[in-house]
Amino acid sequence: MGLSSAPNSFDSLDDKWYIRLNYRYERNEPAVKARPLIIAHRGASGHAPENTMAAFRLAVEMGADWIELDIHQTADGHLVVLHDFTLERTAGDRRPIQTLTLKQIKKFDVGLWWDKAYRGARVPTLDDVLTFARNRIRVQIELKRGSSLYPGIEVRLIETITRHEAERWTAVSSFEIEGLKTLRRLDDKMSLGLLTRKTRPREVLEEAVSLKVQSIHISTRRLSKTLLTQAHSVGLPVYAYTVNRPSLMSRYLTMGADGLFTNYPDRLHHLMNRHPS
Ligand code: G3P
Ligand code: CA
Repeated sequence: MGLSSAPNSFDSLDDKWYIRLNYRYERNEPAVKARPLIIAHRGASGHAPENTMAAFRLAVEMGADWIELDIHQTADGHLVVLHDFTLERTAGDRRPIQTLTLKQIKKFDVGLWWDKAYRGARVPTLDDVLTFARNRIRVQIELKRGSSLYPGIEVRLIETITRHEAERWTAVSSFEIEGLKTLRRLDDKMSLGLLTRKTRPREVLEEAVSLKVQSIHISTRRLSKTLLTQAHSVGLPVYAYTVNRPSLMSRYLTMGADGLFTNYPDRLHHLMNRHPS
C-alpha cells in the first residue's frame, strides 16, 4: 500500500482543492468500502474487560471486522496491550508502565475490576494478540506514545508486525504526530491511521496527506459532513469513535462514516444486518 502523487504543499490550493488533487491509493481494496467497518474498541469492551484476550475473542464472535487496542512499552522493551499509562484503574497500581518489566505486569489481574467471572485475566502482549488474531480478525493498533516516552517503540512495533507477517491485516494509529512520522519514515508502505483532535477539515486532510495515512480516525464530537466529503474526495475513509447507542450508530452511518469504533460490536452488527446498505 502507499500513495502516489500526494502533494507536499497546500499553499496554492483554493476552496475546492481537495477535488483537484491527483491523489490516488495503491491498495488491494477500495479505500472507502461499501459496507462500514465494525471496529471493536478495546475489543468487545462493553461485554468483557477492555484490552483483554476475552474482549478480543468476543469481538471475533460478535462479527467485528477489526479489533482496536492500545499499546505501551515496558521497562524491558516489551509491547503490552492496555489503555492507560498505569494499571491504577484496572489493577490498582500507580507505577508508570515504562518502569515495570513484563514479568511484573503479567502478575496483575486486569479482569477482576470488571467482574469476578474474569478473575485471572492478564495484560496481553502485542505478540499474544497478533498470534490470536491471525486468520481471524484485523488489528488496529493505537500507539499511545512514541519514542518521546518509550524509546525505540516504533522500531519494535514494525519488527513485531513484520515477524507476524501481519502487514496486510494490521494498521497503526496515533494522536502523536511524531510517532506517526517516525513510523512513516521507517516504513513507507505500512498502513497508518491519523487520530486527530483537529476540527477544520482542511487541516485534518493536510496532516493526513503529509503522513500518507490510509484512514482518518476522529471523535463523533468532531465529525462533520464536510470532513467526510473532502476525505472521500481523496479516497480516505473516516472512522468515528466511540459509538455505543444504536440510534447514534444509525446517525453516523447515515452521515457517511466508513466505520465506527464501538464497545458493542454485536449492536452494530445487528443494526447493519437489519439495514444492509
Ligand atoms: O482509536 C480511537 C480511540 O480508541 C481513541 O481513544 O482513549 O479510547 O484510546 P481512546
Ligand atoms: Ca484507543
